[in-house]
Amino acid sequence: MYWKPFNINCDFDSGVLTPPGNLVVRHLSDMKGFYQDAEAFTTLLGQNPKIYEYYNVIIPEEPGHLQHCTSILMPGRVGDEYFMSKGHFHKKTDTAEIYVTYRGNGILLLQTPEGHCEYLHMYPGSMSYIPPYWAHRTVNTGSNPLVFFGVYRGDAGHDYGIIEENGFAKIVVEINGIPTVVDNPKYKQK
Ligand SMILES: [Fe+2]
Repeated sequence: MYWKPFNINCDFDSGVLTPPGNLVVRHLSDMKGFYQDAEAFTTLLGQNPKIYEYYNVIIPEEPGHLQHCTSILMPGRVGDEYFMSKGHFHKKTDTAEIYVTYRGNGILLLQTPEGHCEYLHMYPGSMSYIPPYWAHRTVNTGSNPLVFFGVYRGDAGHDYGIIEENGFAKIVVEINGIPTVVDNPKYKQK
């Protein structure tokens, strides 16, 4: 049968969707092992700040549909490393995604399965294309929340495991007050 058309209201400033759909919240405690500086991580864990959240519109996980969501990534750092999302490949690896940034400044890290890493700047109005097969992670390099919209194929799914285990080949750190993309010293090419 036909799926009924519908509107969702999106607040471009906060990223909040109404109705909220499925809201997922990630705190620092959900990201053990993701950051370089274990000591800074442990210290900050006392406050356990919210790192990011996303509002998923409820859509069937079927190829003809389009999943879409807004993400809100908080400003902050663990040591020198900026707050970031976990990052993922799509379960169906040949599916693309588009991010449209509404607010804030950040870096979108992208990586092939072979470990080739590239990055794009995110800023209000940037429309970033994540081609099929690339893992993707967002990093907030600004002092305000990074708010962006994402849309991808209905059945794409998420695979967090590979990144959780091995990370990205690049990390984003503050050096002399400037967001800088550097090699990840812990990254091992498989
Ligand atoms: Fe994705």
